[in-house]
Amino acid sequence: MRFEIAFIGFGTVGRGFADLLLEKREYLKKAFGIDWKVVAISDIRAGSVMDSNGVDLAEAVRLTDSGKGIEGIPGERKGLDALETIRESGANLVVEVTWTNIKDGEPGYSHIKTALEMGKHVATTNKGPIALHYKELMRISSEKGGKLRFEGAVLSGTPVFNLFEGPLAGCSVASIRGIVNGTTNLILSEMGKGRTYSEVLREAQRMGYAEADPTMDVEGWDAAAKAAILANHFFGADIKPSAVARKGISGITLEEVMDAIKKGGRIKLLARAWKEDRGDVVAEVSPTWLPESDPLASIGGVTNALTFSTDALGEVTIVGLGAGRRATGYALLADMISIARSLA
Ligand code: HSE
Repeated sequence: MRFEIAFIGFGTVGRGFADLLLEKREYLKKAFGIDWKVVAISDIRAGSVMDSNGVDLAEAVRLTDSGKGIEGIPGERKGLDALETIRESGANLVVEVTWTNIKDGEPGYSHIKTALEMGKHVATTNKGPIALHYKELMRISSEKGGKLRFEGAVLSGTPVFNLFEGPLAGCSVASIRGIVNGTTNLILSEMGKGRTYSEVLREAQRMGYAEADPTMDVEGWDAAAKAAILANHFFGADIKPSAVARKGISGITLEEVMDAIKKGGRIKLLARAWKEDRGDVVAEVSPTWLPESDPLASIGGVTNALTFSTDALGEVTIVGLGAGRRATGYALLADMISIARSLA
């Protein structure tokens, strides 16, 4: 399969995907029959370049990594905005990696919707549009034929959605619970070692894990968006992040964290989703005490984990990175391979 790729957004995540595309070009061809060409990049800060013969991706990474714009790269057209790029680039795969907004999902929602309405495939790591508009976007995808993949919206490249397309296909999920926010998990883990809440939050910000507005992390909004995505995808619900019962960790004291440890467990910010017997789907986020014997209790630092309760395999726990340039970039690579496989 030949992908003609348009990058909408070219920040850390987009460049993480670009790194992997460049590194793995030969491998992708040999192992999966995938060939790719980048036909456009449009980024609010770096500018835009479009060329049907291919844009120099390595140069785009080099320039943006040093804080420079990309409009000096040779190309047929420059200065197009995101929607013009989607409409006019001729790409068959739109990689939507603009910033996250879980209030109305914009601008990612309009980007994804426009691409899908044109029958293009979309791979995104953008939580907002998927948390808020999952049903509509999936409907357009199935009507128009372009595939929509969003592996990186939850647990970055650590497999969640693609897992059930591949190795766990055929397993039914009854409930999901887990640690889906690295910032709050780092705070709770480090408070257990005696460090203060604000000191660790600053560290998460320095590491680039915390959201631009860290109240999204500590008040549980980021986890609520991910819980909504899980509930909507796995249980066919139509839950918005604002409808997720949500409690963050800003009220958790050092004493409570220490007390939890003394009692032989840990406090974790858990996201949970399940379908009740009468069919209602519930999603919630709250700090929860877990005994040491629970596999999620030992997940420390920025690591994420999800436990799926399945009909065929019982509990399956997947543990891995939940953010970062390469890990989130990998989600897009996995999505691209998943799209190619689904069309083979
Ligand atoms: N702020 C998020 C976290 C980033 O801390 O997990 C990944 O979605």
